[in-house]
Amino acid sequence: MEWNKIYITGIKEIDDQHKELFDTIVSLKKIDLNNVEISKILKYLVDYTVFHFSKEEEYMKSINYSEINEHKKIHDRFLSELQSIIFKFEKQGTLAKHELYLFLIKWLQGHIAIEDQKYVEFKSSHETVKKNTISFSDIPYIISPQLLRIDMMLSDNLISKDIFIHKRDHYLKTFYKKFKIDNLSKLIKSIDSIHQLKTEEIISKDESIEIQKYLISLVNVEEMMNKETDREIKTKILKLML
Ligand SMILES: [Fe+2]
Repeated sequence: MEWNKIYITGIKEIDDQHKELFDTIVSLKKIDLNNVEISKILKYLVDYTVFHFSKEEEYMKSINYSEINEHKKIHDRFLSELQSIIFKFEKQGTLAKHELYLFLIKWLQGHIAIEDQKYVEFKSSHETVKKNTISFSDIPYIISPQLLRIDMMLSDNLISKDIFIHKRDHYLKTFYKKFKIDNLSKLIKSIDSIHQLKTEEIISKDESIEIQKYLISLVNVEEMMNKETDREIKTKILKLML
């Protein structure tokens, strides 16, 4: 198990803490640990996890993350599981060290690569669209690293093929949903950007069809057609809708 770039959130403080947690868990793998040493590592792990979760929760609050409560629940559940493992160990003096290591490392990797990435995605798509700093031609540069992350989750066996397809679809739709498309020229530009993603092989043909359909379902094309005075734009839309 290695530290991999899909675990990077881009927030230095959080990345450093994740790496520390990862290293602490890996240190459990050392062979000749006696009970006192194991106990020390586990205690440190609990303290550091409590500290990290509180920092992460502070961060999620600062960006007004909409899923903060769900995320907190996951943290709480993990902590109580970890505490009950330690409690058992202290009581019995024995520990299935390898099983514990696998449980911790898998939890951490899955959590960072999937759950923590959700607030990263939330922040990046909210910011870019809100500030209106995004131009349609920038879309491939914003989208491809996020899709790549999902691809890597599949290749690292962190998610199944079904979840992989669902995650890509969900990400793309959430991304495009944030654009306020209130006229035909914006609609054309966004559809063009979908085609560009397909041409650059960032998304598949099926995905491009699906997102285009979704995008059109979100807006009232008829109303925009009535408002539009530019004939050329109207013709272009009619062609796109075919
Ligand atoms: Fe987290």
